[in-house]
Amino acid sequence: MKVLIVGGGGREHAIAWKVAQSRKVDKLYCAPGNAGIAQVAECVDIGVMDFEKLTAFAREQDIDLTIIGPDDPLAAGAADAFEAAGLRVFGPVKSAAILEASKAFSKDLMKKYHIPTAAYETFDSPEKALAYVETADMPIVLKADGLALGKGVLICKTREEAREGVKSLMMDKQFGSAGDRIVVEEFMTGREVSVLSFVDGKTIKVMTSAQDHKRAKDGDQGLNTGGMGTFSPSPFYTDQIHQFCAQHIFQPTVDAMRAEGRAFKGIIFFGLMLTEKGPKVLEYNARFGDPETQVVLPRMKNDIVDVFEACIDGTLDQIELEFEDNAAVCVVLASDGYPEHYEKGLPISGLEAFQDKEGYYVFHAGSKFDEKGRIVTNGGRVLGVTAVGEDLKKARANAYEATEWIHFDNKYMRHDIGRAIDEA
Ligand code: AMP
Ligand code: GLY
Repeated sequence: MKVLIVGGGGREHAIAWKVAQSRKVDKLYCAPGNAGIAQVAECVDIGVMDFEKLTAFAREQDIDLTIIGPDDPLAAGAADAFEAAGLRVFGPVKSAAILEASKAFSKDLMKKYHIPTAAYETFDSPEKALAYVETADMPIVLKADGLALGKGVLICKTREEAREGVKSLMMDKQFGSAGDRIVVEEFMTGREVSVLSFVDGKTIKVMTSAQDHKRAKDGDQGLNTGGMGTFSPSPFYTDQIHQFCAQHIFQPTVDAMRAEGRAFKGIIFFGLMLTEKGPKVLEYNARFGDPETQVVLPRMKNDIVDVFEACIDGTLDQIELEFEDNAAVCVVLASDGYPEHYEKGLPISGLEAFQDKEGYYVFHAGSKFDEKGRIVTNGGRVLGVTAVGEDLKKARANAYEATEWIHFDNKYMRHDIGRAIDEA
């Protein structure tokens, strides 16, 4: 088989690494890819939103399967474009990708189908949102309706912060049209868990759990980022909690989408909060998580191409997902200054230390080859260093050990990835 992966971050590197191991795959391409992905796939210089060039490339090269990684192309109809061109594609069509692309849609869906989530109101006008904020209990959570690189969520402790938040989202358009509409949500407390799942339209198979660290600095301080590190499994995601989620959240979500005429085929990523009143959905994503994928896929035993194909063909009920009985930790190496201002183009050394080291992986998030052929930094998040171990503590020690093998100027990382492990 010839396979094309669309995307160029750490998530796509982990997907490409896993797909490259499939017994079915002879040739792997990635558009646009990055310097790390180039080790396992041939990178093609086409952007993720250029559907015309992507589908033309897939037709010319006789690609048998395309996997779309990021949310933006999915929300804009990448899967529809491939299907219209008669090509096999893994990822939800636009009408289903709305599960992530509109928070108002997903909240209304959960309300209609009694899927546990925070209480909320939706507003199209800043005046009404401001009036609501005057009488609501604080803290309160404001969410831009549309996609905002994972940054459109504001947690407001005081009424003044909430007023400012409504202004910045709806009037100053901090996230552009994503803030034309906002969801104002009850503030919840509890541990967060990410559960990724494969869905074929009717059947859902969930992967092992993970936990992300979204803030830039140790102790969950600093700005929200795309994710600074992950661990898997979450020790707080017990069998009992899993049973509850399977019954009240996972299958009901898939059934709800089908009932709405929006059958979902692809990955549903459930962002859950384990509250005192039980697990609740914080958000849905319609794609693999980044950097959750970097700890989940190294633990997966299946040939992932079998699973992708079962999702497309509607035969997922015949697949049993299997994960190693171990643990994995991913520490993101970023450029100091991320997520605000940071330098690019700094040479990276030490990558060869990972070659042939079983259980240690370096997934590239933002890297490229410079004109001298050196691998240099090319983004805020540069690398994801993942290590497995027989338990979470060993995996964490291994991952932090491996972060020392890599050098680039302004290398920055959190030092407390997986600190929740010690509280388990
Ligand atoms: P989201 O993109 O919706 O997952 O939100 C980003 C982050 O904001 C989540 O990972 C939570 O840490 C936090 N968050 C979102 N919604 C709530 C809520 N209702 N209560 C408390 N924290 C929340
Ligand atoms: N790590 C969170 C996300 O991928 O949205």
